[in-house]
Amino acid sequence: MSAYEQLQSGLTVRRHVWLITGVAGFIGSNLLESLLNLNQRVVGLDNFATGHRRNLDEVQSLVSSEAWENFQFIEGDIRELQDCHRVCQGVDYVLHQAALGSVPRSVEDPITTNGVNVTGFLNMLVAARDAKVKRFVYAASSSTYGDSPSLPKVEAVIGKPLSPYAVTKFVNELYADVFARTYHLESIGLRYFNVFGPRQDPDGAYAAVIPKWIASMIRDEPVYVNGDGETSRDFCFVANVVQANLLAATTSNSAAVNQIYNVALGCRTTLNELYSQLRLSLLPRYGHLEDAKVVNREFRPGDVRHSLADIGKAEKLLGYAPTHRLDAGLALAMPWYLSKNL
Ligand SMILES: NC(=O)c1ccc[n+]([C@@H]2O[C@H](COP(=O)([O-])OP(=O)(O)OC[C@H]3O[C@@H](n4cnc5c(N)ncnc54)[C@H](O)[C@@H]3O)[C@@H](O)[C@H]2O)c1
Repeated sequence: MSAYEQLQSGLTVRRHVWLITGVAGFIGSNLLESLLNLNQRVVGLDNFATGHRRNLDEVQSLVSSEAWENFQFIEGDIRELQDCHRVCQGVDYVLHQAALGSVPRSVEDPITTNGVNVTGFLNMLVAARDAKVKRFVYAASSSTYGDSPSLPKVEAVIGKPLSPYAVTKFVNELYADVFARTYHLESIGLRYFNVFGPRQDPDGAYAAVIPKWIASMIRDEPVYVNGDGETSRDFCFVANVVQANLLAATTSNSAAVNQIYNVALGCRTTLNELYSQLRLSLLPRYGHLEDAKVVNREFRPGDVRHSLADIGKAEKLLGYAPTHRLDAGLALAMPWYLSKNL
């Protein structure tokens, strides 16, 4: 039995209280679905900046009515300290996901990104400390590797940040470390690589590549590739991210706590390869993709060229073992996109 299987069977008979910030977002709503299915009590916070009420409605439709009764939603903003205090009361584990994602958004509006990702993060640390939660697990980011050329990325070797977003995510790690030393608040930072899966928003200027491309291909709109398409990413299905969060929150391995981990698959895929894979899986339903080609355009400022994680640290200390590779994840995510009538 894997560490995650053991954890899941233990959780079904032992109920904890979890706080998910950013619960109406992509990753937050997937965490919610998994925790409710494991019979856990969940408090969720969101201000719907980029998340959607429809994500919560969808989770409600996917879990039993008894499980849904275990969820309490509070609309609020992590930039407001009193909102953070309110949601942390009586919580065992915090899974802090709320943030403004996207490198280009942060390049266009660094002040708002900093307000949410740094001030909001600090508010959450203070509230978690004051509520004496057992552990604070937070979404860090692979963008922290910045201009470091080394591949695969190992947690201890980072470069200079390439965007305001990357600065904010690195500051999160620094603050969490200081709170561990100064106030003994246990934390674990999870550097997510490119996460994908159901409920990842395909629309808007800052949509991630997989949902954006699927939507464009279905709608017969141009697919834009920034650069020559040989840029590569370590695409990680959201179920693997859920696994890492649950393992991080509950690990009893003291060496695993107050650490940072890569959360990824440990394989890299170029944008050209990704496009081919998506086109092939959509082609049977969308004949217009027969002769489709991408449109190459300029490289985007702040983007890193290659991204590939070494996941050995999470494997060793947390017992992390990704259950879904890229093709399996895409096979699960695709029906969701098709059902959305994009
Ligand atoms: N998706 C990825 O590939 C990826 C990669 C690295 C890191 N991350 C991090 O993972 C986390 C979740 O990302 P996601 O992809 O689910 O994004 P998302 O935009 O779908 O979810 C973020 C959620 O946070 C909420 N939020 C934003 N500002 C808030 C505020 N001030 N107060 C309360 N809630 C607020 C949003 O409304 C949204 O529901 C973020 O911290 C992001 O930076 C994601």
